[in-house]
Amino acid sequence: MKPMTNEKKATWDCLEMLVCPSCRARLTDCTQGLRCTTCDLTYTVTESIPRMVDESWLDEATRQEMAAQDGHFAGLPDKAVFKPDYHSRYRRCRTRQRLEHLLAQLDRGITHRPSVHVACCGTGYEVEALLQAGWQVSASDLSVQALRGLSKRSAARSYRVPYLQADVRYLPFAADSFDVAVAVEGLHHTPDPLGGFTELVRVARHQVAVIEPYTTGALNLLARLGLAHRPEYSRRQPRRLTASLAGQMLSVAGVDAGITRLYLDLPPGLLADTAGDWPILAALLGASNRGAEWLLGIVGMGNKIALVADVN
Ligand SMILES: C[S@@+](CC[C@H](N)C(=O)[O-])C[C@H]1O[C@@H](n2cnc3c(N)ncnc32)[C@H](O)[C@@H]1O
Ligand SMILES: [Zn+2]
Repeated sequence: MKPMTNEKKATWDCLEMLVCPSCRARLTDCTQGLRCTTCDLTYTVTESIPRMVDESWLDEATRQEMAAQDGHFAGLPDKAVFKPDYHSRYRRCRTRQRLEHLLAQLDRGITHRPSVHVACCGTGYEVEALLQAGWQVSASDLSVQALRGLSKRSAARSYRVPYLQADVRYLPFAADSFDVAVAVEGLHHTPDPLGGFTELVRVARHQVAVIEPYTTGALNLLARLGLAHRPEYSRRQPRRLTASLAGQMLSVAGVDAGITRLYLDLPPGLLADTAGDWPILAALLGASNRGAEWLLGIVGMGNKIALVADVN
C-alpha cells in the first residue's frame, strides 16, 4: 500500500484506503493536504490529523454537536479520556459487559486477522478493547478534541491505531474496506442515525455492530420525563433508536433479523453513580439489574440496544 508522504506524520498512513467523503473519488497527496481528483475539494492534515470533513456541508445540528464534543473533551481530563475507569463500579461493569457481549458476536467466519473500523470512537474505549482482542483497528470521530483524547489514551497505554476526523454519515472509505464496522453510542448524536448505519454497512464486508440508547413502550413515557436515559452533554434531543428505526437498520443491512439484544441500565442518579461504587451494593445492583433486564427483554423492553447484522 502506498503510504502518505509522511512529512505530515499523519495519524492515518495509508492514502490508498481513502476516498473523498463527498463524491467518493480517489485522493491525491498535495502540499495543502489531500485533494479530491474529481470535485477538487482539499482535506487538510492539521496537527497530523486528516480532516475528512468539509465543514461547509455540515448541517447546523452536526456543527453544534462537534462544538459541544470539542468543549466536553477540552483540556483532556483523565475522567473523560479514560472511560469507563472513573465511572462507578456498577456502571463500569455494565459498560464492559455490553462491550464483551458485542465482541463475542463478531468475527464469525473470518479467518485472517480481521479489520474493524470504529466510527464515533470518542477517546477510544472500544478501540482499545478490540485491539486487545486481536483486531486490526482503525478509528474516526467528528470531534478532533475526542481524537486528541484517543491519542492521549493510546500513548499512555503504548499502542497505536490509525485515526482521522470523519462524519459517520460520510465516511472517507471505499465500499467493503473493512471486515467489520462498529459504532458504540454514537449514531444517536447524529441527526440521521439510519444514514450513519447505512454508511457503516457500505464500508463493511461482513458485519456491522452498534450499541445505542433505545426507547420503546412504557419507556417512552419515562424517557419524556428524563428518567430512562442519561442526559446527553452535547444534544438536547438525541435520536435514540426505536423498534421501527432498529427494524429499518436491519433491512438496510439486507437482513430481516440480525442479532438484537436489549439492555436495561439504571437511570442516572445516586444509586447508579454514587452508591453503585460500593462493592457489595454494586454486585447486588448488577445482579438485580440483570434479572430485570431478562424479564423486560421477554416483552421487548430495554433502554439500550445492541444490533449486530451480517452484511453481504
Ligand atoms: C457518547 S460518545 C461515545 C464515544 C465512544 N464510542 C464510547 O462509547 O466511549 C459519542 C461520540 O460520537 C461522536 N459523534 C457525534 N456525531 C458524530 C458524527 N456525525 N460522526 C462521527 N462521530 C460523531 C462524538 O464526537 C463522540 O465522540
Ligand atoms: Zn470529491
